[in-house]
Amino acid sequence: MPDAVFFGAAILALPLFGSFGLLVAALQGGALAEVLGESSRRLEAAYATARQQAQERERREQELYDKQRQLAGLIHLSQQLSSIRQPDQLLAMVARIAKDEMNSAISLVALVHGRELRVVCSHGLSQLSVEAFRPRVGAGPLGGVVVSGKGIRLGEADGEAWRQSLEGVRERVRTLLAVPIQSPHEKLPVGILAVGNLLVGEAYESEHEDFLGLLGTDAAIALHNLSLYSELERSYYEIIQALAQAIEAKDPYTSGHVARVRTYATRLAKALGLPQEEIELISKAAILHDVGKISVPDKVLMKPGTLTEEEFEVMKSHVENALHILKDIRSLPPRVFEMVLHHHERYDGGGYPHGLKGEEIPLGAQIIGLADTFDAMTSDRPYRKGYSAEEALARMEEAMGTQFNPRLLKAFFGLFEFRTRRPLTLKLREGQEDR
Ligand SMILES: [Fe+2]
Repeated sequence: MPDAVFFGAAILALPLFGSFGLLVAALQGGALAEVLGESSRRLEAAYATARQQAQERERREQELYDKQRQLAGLIHLSQQLSSIRQPDQLLAMVARIAKDEMNSAISLVALVHGRELRVVCSHGLSQLSVEAFRPRVGAGPLGGVVVSGKGIRLGEADGEAWRQSLEGVRERVRTLLAVPIQSPHEKLPVGILAVGNLLVGEAYESEHEDFLGLLGTDAAIALHNLSLYSELERSYYEIIQALAQAIEAKDPYTSGHVARVRTYATRLAKALGLPQEEIELISKAAILHDVGKISVPDKVLMKPGTLTEEEFEVMKSHVENALHILKDIRSLPPRVFEMVLHHHERYDGGGYPHGLKGEEIPLGAQIIGLADTFDAMTSDRPYRKGYSAEEALARMEEAMGTQFNPRLLKAFFGLFEFRTRRPLTLKLREGQEDR
């Protein structure tokens, strides 16, 4: 019986009682080569194939993951775009998504400004670079993007074109991809969206360009919509201001009332430290606060003297009439409606239309109500002369805690300065220009 038996070319069998010396001798005699020979090569080939397949699978999975992430980025962007009202916020978001989703160290948005491109937001570039980087429209690869409407991919190997593209940039940039920001409605791009220094991989590829191109188009459409939106907003203001003027025109004694209420209300809102967004809503509501009076008959609206109970009921309806007039203006935020509806509520709950009390009354409505009362008290009427500012404030002080919120009234007093001791003259402090 032999000490060792070979089965085919792949298996070496040794008796269990064989010695270690016997094994060594067998291996030295070429048994290993025989065992591993062809079989080993097949194994190696199979292993190499499996490794290649695993790598390919990994690459595809990564690709799929990247695409999913990019898609999620686009979906997230589309969701956000509808709520963003400021172009700079929108472009900042686009630049951030481009950088993150394209695995890049640098991203920038540059818009056409006259004959050159100016960076409006960026990541990974110093302020000095941002200021110095001003590609001319139509000149060089980047300036060419806003003329051709086509994206470009460049790298250090592109020599002169590369050098030209990055004039003014102090950071080392190895790779660059730029696409136009252009919506289907526009003949020419309004700017470029670019990313640089790919973090994973050697150079940007066509898939990168496709994704960035989608992002550039999305950004352009959103910018276009924003400009339509602001045009719509402008028209809307013109309409409501015309309505407010139409009401004032009915009664010469109320001339300038809306503008003054807006001034007092916005200054009070600023003095209370309210955010700018809130101040703008209060400003809108102040312009609109009495728009419902357009449906109050003149004999009630301009009646000299005290109104009868019935007439007062008609007059009270102006706050709800306003809602009917304004309901079709979709861009009007619901909080403006609330402020208009509740500007005649009283702090103690004795006002109208809902008898809200204290903090139940929207703050903007309280502010407008206070400004409205002050202006009404200090304006002349056919049947009485208006109070002086100090008289009006003194009377309002008596209504502190009943008609008015004490905190607001105190802040309102702070808007005035006393020039002399007696008689007191009050002058609204100089403030920043009201918006
Ligand atoms: Fe009113």
